[in-house]
Amino acid sequence: MTSSLTPDLKTHQSRSLPRRPRRLRRNPALRKMVQEAHLSVEDLIYPLFVTEGENTRVEVPSMPGSYRYTLDLLLAEVKEASKLGICSIALFPALPEDKKDATATESYNPNGLVQRTIRAIKETVPEMIVITDVALDPFSDQGHDGIVSETGEILNDETVEVLVKMAVSQAAAGADIVAPSDMMDGRIGAIREGLDHAGYTNTGILAYSAKYASAYYGPFRDALDSAPKFGDKKTYQMDAANAREALTEIELDIQEGADMVMVKPALAYLDVIHLVRQNTNLPVAAYNVSGEYAMIKAAAEKGWIDEEKIVMETLTSMKRAGADLILSYFAKQVAQLLAE
Ligand code: PBG
Repeated sequence: MTSSLTPDLKTHQSRSLPRRPRRLRRNPALRKMVQEAHLSVEDLIYPLFVTEGENTRVEVPSMPGSYRYTLDLLLAEVKEASKLGICSIALFPALPEDKKDATATESYNPNGLVQRTIRAIKETVPEMIVITDVALDPFSDQGHDGIVSETGEILNDETVEVLVKMAVSQAAAGADIVAPSDMMDGRIGAIREGLDHAGYTNTGILAYSAKYASAYYGPFRDALDSAPKFGDKKTYQMDAANAREALTEIELDIQEGADMVMVKPALAYLDVIHLVRQNTNLPVAAYNVSGEYAMIKAAAEKGWIDEEKIVMETLTSMKRAGADLILSYFAKQVAQLLAE
């Protein structure tokens, strides 16, 4: 039975519509031809957690599929990533509590975990670009990114001095790019000067410029046991409600010598990525953080979403928003999907 709403296809007269956007969506070839944003393996930076010991990898409970690796197994993971075409990793150390102190002295130990790991990666997979995190939290017994005063304040300029030592020791170990994620004022300029003075004029700086005080970092802090022991990070990381302030941070970091800038987290801040893209010619990175990873993994585990499709759609949205580079725990999985 034909309802009165069904058009009679035989006698139907086509409308003369000058604009029919669907013309360009008719088949995969046409869709590919007009595709605007492209996600490629060169865009990916793979964050990795390293810990002391050997022959062990421990899955991070809130980040299924992500591990803390001992150095030997980390090297195997880096090799595998390299084979998949990933050209850059971001390194994060998980230290035992007895290596942590009030001023993060272990962070610039020339034979510390990070420094040994950089050297080993550069010996084993020399072409891999090694990006290192510059912040006190994994080394601080307070779990804060800066030095804590007696009254519980995060001391800016005292912290910057430690950050400079940390960055220089990472450069000395062979880091290609140092990435300050601490949000202290003036740290980019101080680190640039420190690197240049020490002769590391070619070591780059990827500035975590617009880094928000975000609940999306929860699983990462589980991975490193680096949650703040008191309070929160709101006196240094940015307020989630602010976008214009991101431009101030970006402007300062660029003036001070950043080679690339970052927006973090990514998914809830696509507007900020877009804004930053329009306001700088430097490469823009976006950090698809641990909480974004955990949400997708958890929903996929329940069978509520299609993990592969959601991952590709999510990362493509970051490219569309204007990111050139994406730090993502999905990097290996995405590299595999792109290769298929
Ligand atoms: C530490 C740092 C954090 C992340 C990267 N570097 C956590 C924080 O600021 O508390 C978070 C990364 C993630 O959640 O994936 N300076």
